[in-house]
Amino acid sequence: MPAPWTPESWRRLPIEQAPVFADPKALAEVEEKLGTFPPLVFAGEARQLKRALADVAHGNGFLLQGGDCAESFLEHRADNIRDFFRVFLQMAVVLTYAGGSPVVKVGRIAGQFAKPRSSPVEKKGGVELPSYRGDIINGPEFTAAARTADPQRQIEAYRQSAATLNLIRAFAMGGYADLERVHQWNMGFVKDSPQGHRYQELADRIAETMGFMRACGITSDTTPQLKTTNFYTSHEALLLGFEQALTRLDSTSGDWYATSGHMVWIGDRTRQPDHAHVEFCRGIKNPIGLKCGPTLEPDGLLRLLDLLDPKNEAGRMTLICRFGADKDRNDVSFNAMRTQLIKLIRAVKKAGRIVVWSCDPMHGNTITAASGYKTRPFDRILGEVETFFAVHRAEGTHAGGVHVEMTGQNVTECTGGATAILESDLSARYHTHCDPRLNADQSLELAFLVAERLKLERAVFESGKQAAAG
Ligand code: PEP
Ligand code: CO
Repeated sequence: MPAPWTPESWRRLPIEQAPVFADPKALAEVEEKLGTFPPLVFAGEARQLKRALADVAHGNGFLLQGGDCAESFLEHRADNIRDFFRVFLQMAVVLTYAGGSPVVKVGRIAGQFAKPRSSPVEKKGGVELPSYRGDIINGPEFTAAARTADPQRQIEAYRQSAATLNLIRAFAMGGYADLERVHQWNMGFVKDSPQGHRYQELADRIAETMGFMRACGITSDTTPQLKTTNFYTSHEALLLGFEQALTRLDSTSGDWYATSGHMVWIGDRTRQPDHAHVEFCRGIKNPIGLKCGPTLEPDGLLRLLDLLDPKNEAGRMTLICRFGADKDRNDVSFNAMRTQLIKLIRAVKKAGRIVVWSCDPMHGNTITAASGYKTRPFDRILGEVETFFAVHRAEGTHAGGVHVEMTGQNVTECTGGATAILESDLSARYHTHCDPRLNADQSLELAFLVAERLKLERAVFESGKQAAAG
């Protein structure tokens, strides 16, 4: 039996990826102040998301989770938020209409600031400085001043999260997400791109359906579900002092909730069962994501599920698989990934565990181009998604979601896609503060592929049912 949980019980345990703050008193003051700030989200909303994810876990629905690798203070502008939201809605509508599945929409946004790093230091031209750990901790510029961890940044991250969430709530509830506007989400540079044209055709079909429904008396005025959408926020629960300060006791249920976002996840580098991050997450009642990387074995996964979800509650756990092409990078047929995923699925099934299986095709597929840019080849991203769906089809389990790093901007960060971004194009618009993201066009292309695979999954399921009945 683990020792009793409290919002600060993680402080007793070893911790990975924790920044060093020079002035602990200044840090404590900031955490105390954050503790007095209003929650960003309500416990009731986190419960609503958990119910939606429970449906996905049972095979009804699909989780679309995506956004920046790292949100940035500098790029905090209304047009960036709008452009992200627009493409995210386009992806969701492609999955709903072409994939025929309800979609649970969860952004990596309004709190996705802290980053785990493979090395605590970065060296450039004989100079060694602490690594950039996300805007909530230090700055990306390669200077000693910027790389010093500054607690005041947590106040700024809270402010930005609140402002971002406010605008997104307005978009989601105030008419922007109205299905009558399905054509207007296809604006800007996307409109004239290959995927934009494909989307245009789909939007025409939706508009036709809406026209028919209108004639039957069903409009967004009579049916609010057509006018508004449920959109949730998520981020990695990495900076635990910040998370603790925003963890609040919910008076309705008497349970503790992280109120920094609706869903939080545990990163692949901080999932040690006896360390601080797992300890913190086991006590909060939000939906929890767990990144499952190449070193996670079935026994280790089952141990984590016992700790994080002792009651086997549907909607509590989302397993975000991020294996990648094989380590030597030569086998892009994803054989090792396939083998590992099968092992995990069988172990989870045998243990009777109810989870959402999601695929993060980004984090196992990062390579460094000859020019030095970190990139991700789009065909490898599609390859991992494709393998994920194929394995679930074969195992009779539900491929429940995708988790992607994406932006609404026309960036050149991942190579490939219908507009064929080349390695030599990367420098043109490489804006990410951390990992390379899909641009709007690549995001849509991925959504179309996923929609097709979802349809196939259902066809296989239906024919299985018919065969069983016959
Ligand atoms: C991330 O999602 O940005 C991340 C760092 O992922 P992982 O923990 O899977 O490497
Ligand atoms: Co990332």
